Amino acid sequence: MKFFIDTGEVSEIRQAHAMGLVDGVTTNPSLIAKSGRPYKEVVVEICDIVNGPISAEVLSTTYDEMMVEARVWHKLHPNVVVKLPLIPDGLRATRTCTNEGIRTNVTLCFSPTQALLAAKAGASYISPFIGRLDDCSETGMELIDKIVRIYKNYGYATEVLVASVRNPTHVVDAALIGAHVCTIPYSVMLQLAKHPLTDVGLKKFVEDAQKIPR
Ligand code: E4P
Repeated sequence: MKFFIDTGEVSEIRQAHAMGLVDGVTTNPSLIAKSGRPYKEVVVEICDIVNGPISAEVLSTTYDEMMVEARVWHKLHPNVVVKLPLIPDGLRATRTCTNEGIRTNVTLCFSPTQALLAAKAGASYISPFIGRLDDCSETGMELIDKIVRIYKNYGYATEVLVASVRNPTHVVDAALIGAHVCTIPYSVMLQLAKHPLTDVGLKKFVEDAQKIPR
Protein backbone atom coordinates (compact mmCIF):
# COMPACT_ATOMS: atom_id res chain seq x y z
CA MET A 1 0.00 0.00 0.00
CA LYS A 2 1.30 3.43 -0.92
CA PHE A 3 1.55 6.05 1.81
CA PHE A 4 0.61 9.63 0.99
CA ILE A 5 0.93 12.32 3.63
CA ASP A 6 -2.19 14.40 4.23
CA THR A 7 -0.98 17.87 5.16
CA GLY A 8 -0.32 21.44 4.09
CA GLU A 9 2.70 21.73 6.38
CA VAL A 10 5.94 21.43 4.42
CA SER A 11 7.99 20.73 7.57
CA GLU A 12 5.90 17.58 8.22
CA ILE A 13 6.44 16.43 4.64
CA ARG A 14 10.22 16.90 5.00
CA GLN A 15 10.31 14.83 8.20
CA ALA A 16 8.14 11.99 6.87
CA HIS A 17 10.04 12.01 3.56
CA ALA A 18 13.36 11.69 5.41
CA MET A 19 12.04 8.43 6.92
CA GLY A 20 11.11 7.14 3.45
CA LEU A 21 7.39 7.18 4.25
CA VAL A 22 6.09 9.45 1.53
CA ASP A 23 4.97 8.10 -1.84
CA GLY A 24 2.82 11.15 -2.47
CA VAL A 25 1.00 14.08 -0.85
CA THR A 26 -2.62 15.17 -0.52
CA THR A 27 -3.70 18.69 0.34
CA ASN A 28 -7.09 20.36 0.58
CA PRO A 29 -8.23 23.99 1.06
CA SER A 30 -8.67 23.51 4.82
CA LEU A 31 -5.15 22.11 5.27
CA ILE A 32 -3.61 24.91 3.20
CA ALA A 33 -5.63 27.59 5.04
CA LYS A 34 -4.21 26.15 8.28
CA SER A 35 -0.67 26.59 6.93
CA GLY A 36 -1.38 30.32 6.42
CA ARG A 37 0.50 30.28 3.09
CA PRO A 38 -0.55 30.75 -0.58
CA TYR A 39 -1.69 27.42 -2.10
CA LYS A 40 0.55 27.59 -5.19
CA GLU A 41 3.66 28.44 -3.15
CA VAL A 42 3.09 25.41 -0.89
CA VAL A 43 2.52 23.03 -3.81
CA VAL A 44 5.67 24.22 -5.64
CA GLU A 45 7.71 23.60 -2.48
CA ILE A 46 6.17 20.13 -2.01
CA CYS A 47 7.02 19.21 -5.62
CA ASP A 48 10.67 20.01 -4.88
CA ILE A 49 10.67 17.55 -1.97
CA VAL A 50 8.53 14.62 -3.11
CA ASN A 51 8.79 12.84 -6.43
CA GLY A 52 5.29 11.38 -6.48
CA PRO A 53 1.67 12.37 -7.00
CA ILE A 54 0.83 15.68 -5.27
CA SER A 55 -2.91 16.36 -5.03
CA ALA A 56 -3.89 20.03 -5.34
CA GLU A 57 -7.58 20.87 -5.08
CA VAL A 58 -9.60 23.27 -7.19
CA LEU A 59 -11.26 26.07 -5.19
CA SER A 60 -14.25 26.64 -7.51
CA THR A 61 -17.37 24.51 -8.00
CA THR A 62 -18.51 25.11 -11.60
CA TYR A 63 -17.24 23.10 -14.57
CA ASP A 64 -15.74 26.04 -16.48
CA GLU A 65 -13.96 27.48 -13.46
CA MET A 66 -12.72 24.07 -12.32
CA MET A 67 -11.26 23.40 -15.78
CA VAL A 68 -9.39 26.73 -15.72
CA GLU A 69 -7.91 25.81 -12.33
CA ALA A 70 -7.21 22.22 -13.39
CA ARG A 71 -5.17 23.34 -16.39
CA VAL A 72 -3.20 25.81 -14.26
CA TRP A 73 -2.40 23.12 -11.66
CA HIS A 74 -1.46 20.66 -14.42
CA LYS A 75 0.99 23.12 -15.99
CA LEU A 76 2.65 23.82 -12.64
CA HIS A 77 4.42 20.45 -12.36
CA PRO A 78 4.03 17.00 -13.98
CA ASN A 79 3.48 15.42 -10.52
CA VAL A 80 0.45 17.54 -9.69
CA VAL A 81 -2.84 15.60 -9.58
CA VAL A 82 -5.94 17.79 -9.73
CA LYS A 83 -8.39 17.22 -6.92
CA LEU A 84 -12.04 17.68 -7.95
CA PRO A 85 -15.21 17.43 -5.84
CA LEU A 86 -17.67 14.61 -6.37
CA ILE A 87 -20.51 16.67 -7.80
CA PRO A 88 -21.89 16.50 -11.37
CA ASP A 89 -19.69 19.41 -12.55
CA GLY A 90 -16.72 17.75 -10.86
CA LEU A 91 -17.39 14.48 -12.71
CA ARG A 92 -17.65 16.36 -15.99
CA ALA A 93 -14.35 18.08 -15.21
CA THR A 94 -12.85 14.70 -14.34
CA ARG A 95 -13.83 13.30 -17.73
CA THR A 96 -12.41 16.33 -19.56
CA CYS A 97 -9.18 16.18 -17.53
CA THR A 98 -8.81 12.47 -18.31
CA ASN A 99 -9.34 13.18 -22.01
CA GLU A 100 -6.65 15.90 -21.81
CA GLY A 101 -4.18 13.64 -19.96
CA ILE A 102 -4.56 15.47 -16.64
CA ARG A 103 -4.54 13.12 -13.63
CA THR A 104 -7.38 13.57 -11.13
CA ASN A 105 -8.25 12.76 -7.53
CA VAL A 106 -12.01 12.84 -7.00
CA THR A 107 -12.64 13.96 -3.45
CA LEU A 108 -15.47 14.04 -0.88
CA CYS A 109 -16.66 10.51 -1.71
CA PHE A 110 -19.07 9.03 0.81
CA SER A 111 -20.84 6.22 -1.09
CA PRO A 112 -20.14 3.28 -3.44
CA THR A 113 -22.33 4.85 -6.14
CA GLN A 114 -20.23 8.04 -6.07
CA ALA A 115 -17.08 5.91 -6.38
CA LEU A 116 -18.55 4.05 -9.33
CA LEU A 117 -19.31 7.34 -11.11
CA ALA A 118 -15.77 8.63 -10.48
CA ALA A 119 -14.31 5.47 -12.01
CA LYS A 120 -16.57 5.78 -15.06
CA ALA A 121 -15.48 9.42 -15.41
CA GLY A 122 -11.90 8.14 -15.60
CA ALA A 123 -10.60 9.38 -12.23
CA SER A 124 -7.02 8.43 -11.41
CA TYR A 125 -7.87 8.29 -7.69
CA ILE A 126 -11.06 8.18 -5.64
CA SER A 127 -10.89 9.62 -2.11
CA PRO A 128 -13.48 8.11 0.25
CA PHE A 129 -13.46 10.00 3.59
CA ILE A 130 -13.67 7.27 6.19
CA GLY A 131 -13.09 9.32 9.36
CA ARG A 132 -15.96 11.66 8.54
CA LEU A 133 -18.26 8.63 8.05
CA ASP A 134 -17.13 7.24 11.40
CA ASP A 135 -17.98 10.65 12.89
CA CYS A 136 -21.58 10.12 11.68
CA SER A 137 -21.72 6.66 13.34
CA GLU A 138 -21.27 4.85 10.01
CA THR A 139 -18.34 2.47 9.46
CA GLY A 140 -16.09 4.21 6.97
CA MET A 141 -14.00 1.11 6.35
CA GLU A 142 -17.04 -0.77 5.00
CA LEU A 143 -17.13 1.79 2.19
CA ILE A 144 -13.49 1.06 1.33
CA ASP A 145 -14.25 -2.66 1.21
CA LYS A 146 -17.19 -2.11 -1.14
CA ILE A 147 -15.30 0.23 -3.48
CA VAL A 148 -12.28 -2.08 -3.70
CA ARG A 149 -14.60 -5.00 -4.57
CA ILE A 150 -16.59 -3.02 -7.14
CA TYR A 151 -13.44 -1.74 -8.87
CA LYS A 152 -11.96 -5.28 -8.93
CA ASN A 153 -15.20 -6.72 -10.36
CA TYR A 154 -14.95 -4.47 -13.40
CA GLY A 155 -11.20 -3.89 -13.66
CA TYR A 156 -11.37 -0.12 -13.17
CA ALA A 157 -7.94 1.54 -13.17
CA THR A 158 -9.01 4.15 -10.59
CA GLU A 159 -6.95 3.76 -7.40
CA VAL A 160 -8.69 3.76 -4.03
CA LEU A 161 -7.08 6.46 -1.88
CA VAL A 162 -8.28 6.07 1.70
CA ALA A 163 -8.73 9.58 3.12
CA SER A 164 -9.84 11.21 6.38
CA VAL A 165 -7.64 8.74 8.23
CA ARG A 166 -7.68 9.34 11.96
CA ASN A 167 -5.82 6.45 13.63
CA PRO A 168 -3.47 3.46 13.08
CA THR A 169 -6.39 1.01 12.92
CA HIS A 170 -7.66 2.81 9.83
CA VAL A 171 -4.28 2.19 8.18
CA VAL A 172 -4.14 -1.49 9.12
CA ASP A 173 -7.71 -2.13 7.95
CA ALA A 174 -7.10 -0.29 4.67
CA ALA A 175 -4.04 -2.48 4.07
CA LEU A 176 -5.95 -5.67 4.92
CA ILE A 177 -8.67 -4.75 2.43
CA GLY A 178 -6.02 -4.03 -0.21
CA ALA A 179 -6.66 -0.32 -0.84
CA HIS A 180 -4.07 1.12 -3.21
CA VAL A 181 -3.21 4.20 -1.14
CA CYS A 182 -3.75 5.56 2.34
CA THR A 183 -3.28 9.28 2.92
CA ILE A 184 -2.16 9.76 6.49
CA PRO A 185 -1.68 12.82 8.72
CA TYR A 186 1.89 13.10 10.07
CA SER A 187 0.69 12.60 13.67
CA VAL A 188 -0.82 9.23 12.69
CA MET A 189 2.38 8.23 10.85
CA LEU A 190 4.25 8.74 14.12
CA GLN A 191 1.61 6.70 15.98
CA LEU A 192 2.21 3.85 13.50
CA ALA A 193 5.83 3.64 14.67
CA LYS A 194 4.93 3.64 18.35
CA HIS A 195 4.84 0.55 20.58
CA PRO A 196 5.31 0.58 24.38
CA LEU A 197 7.37 -2.63 24.26
CA THR A 198 9.78 -0.95 21.81
CA ASP A 199 10.29 1.91 24.29
CA VAL A 200 10.70 -0.44 27.28
CA GLY A 201 13.07 -2.71 25.33
CA LEU A 202 15.18 0.19 24.09
CA LYS A 203 15.45 1.69 27.59
CA LYS A 204 16.81 -1.65 28.87
CA PHE A 205 19.26 -2.00 25.97
CA VAL A 206 20.55 1.54 26.59
CA GLU A 207 20.97 0.81 30.31
CA ASP A 208 22.69 -2.53 29.68
CA ALA A 209 24.96 -0.96 27.07
CA GLN A 210 26.53 1.03 29.91
CA LYS A 211 27.53 -2.27 31.60
CA ILE A 212 29.46 -3.57 28.61
CA PRO A 213 33.22 -3.40 29.33
CA ARG A 214 34.96 -0.97 26.99
C1 E4P B 1 -7.54 14.12 1.86
O1 E4P B 1 -7.46 14.09 0.68
C2 E4P B 1 -8.70 14.67 2.58
O2 E4P B 1 -8.94 15.97 2.17
C3 E4P B 1 -8.50 14.58 4.06
O3 E4P B 1 -8.01 13.28 4.36
C4 E4P B 1 -9.73 14.89 4.87
O4 E4P B 1 -9.47 14.58 6.22
P1 E4P B 1 -10.39 15.12 7.42
O5 E4P B 1 -11.71 14.46 7.33
O6 E4P B 1 -9.64 14.70 8.67
O7 E4P B 1 -10.48 16.61 7.27
